[in-house]
Amino acid sequence: MDKIKIKPSLIEVLNNNTTTTIPVWLMRQAGRYLPEYRELRKNAGSFLNLCMNAKLAAEITLQPLRRFDLDAAIIFSDILTIPMACNRNLNFVENEGPILKPIENEKEILELKITNFEYLEPVYESLAIVKNKLSEEKALIGFAGAPFTVAAYMIEGKASVPFPKCVSFFHENEKAFLLLLDKLENFITNHLIKQIEAGADVIQIFESHAKVALDENKFKLFCIDPVNKIINKIRKKYPNIAIIGFPRNAEHSYLEYGKSLNVDCISIDQNINIEWLINNLKMTKKRNLCLQGNLAPEILLEGGGKMIASIHNIIDVFSSINHIFNLGHGVIKETPIENIDLLIKTIRSREK
Ligand code: CP3
Repeated sequence: MDKIKIKPSLIEVLNNNTTTTIPVWLMRQAGRYLPEYRELRKNAGSFLNLCMNAKLAAEITLQPLRRFDLDAAIIFSDILTIPMACNRNLNFVENEGPILKPIENEKEILELKITNFEYLEPVYESLAIVKNKLSEEKALIGFAGAPFTVAAYMIEGKASVPFPKCVSFFHENEKAFLLLLDKLENFITNHLIKQIEAGADVIQIFESHAKVALDENKFKLFCIDPVNKIINKIRKKYPNIAIIGFPRNAEHSYLEYGKSLNVDCISIDQNINIEWLINNLKMTKKRNLCLQGNLAPEILLEGGGKMIASIHNIIDVFSSINHIFNLGHGVIKETPIENIDLLIKTIRSREK
């Protein structure tokens, strides 16, 4: 007898089909809040060593799914694997975050290329391992940073919001900056296509520092146009792949993002008025666009009654459209594991 294939609920929602469950996963669901992650990291020596080892990266990807009833696994990697592969000497310094060799001038942009493919290969290998082990009702998410966010780190050389060096650079030499975005767009497109070929069912594009382009009124040029090119190229090859875009802290520009890009879903941070976005994007359950989000990670950290009330409120506000439950940003490393158990239990209690 043929086995009936079960589609993950996350994919059903992204395909605009009705489900009886509310799909849920959490950004940074694998990581330092889990003791089993800390143990592997201690033995590996560094975060980058974990990313570079396909077997360990696959194991870490699966760790949160062993503990919690999540609907998706997100591959354990980083958006900065692209600069690593371009030989920009990336290091993660404890309590400081990423440090990389900053791009200083146009010449370095002209010369930029992917030289170290060994930084990207483990990503595809770990996707294939996870795909093999994951049960069929769970979705596998691949990801990349959007060109603007990756460029911001590459010019700044570190995470110093609001990226003053990057802002000066794009003011002084917009042509060179656009060339950098163009090159990154190509690298990122290839990286995402390879992730799809390795087994990713969904891809998420992280524009974590969209806010840096808002003040400067450059959002279309820097955050929409390059991502549009990525999506169009991917869709030409894989028309049905599910794509989630996350222009974090894009404020009013979420609207332009939703109107301009052919994404299946927009992930939203906790600072946005959901009803405003739903109304202005004219979203309904029948329209082929859904939203993902948007519990504040600080509320998950705190847990308890306040968290339960916030979860119910989010489920109510999103009830007129297709919704994937998630946070507005990544899990904070001090988050107690019990709070995530309670979060999942609360979401499951709302299911039909
Ligand atoms: O979500 C997941 O569970 C998948 C893994 C994942 C990581 N980074 C692992 C990670 C994902 C999706 C990312 C994306 C990422 N990386 C983004 C976009 C999302 C966001 O947070 O806005 C950005 C901006 C980065 C760059 C980056 N990586 C920074 C700024 C840092 C340092 C800050 C921090 O949290 O330590 C990282 C390190 C990083 N990436 C860790 C993990 C688990 C911590 C590594 C460790 O110390 O063990």
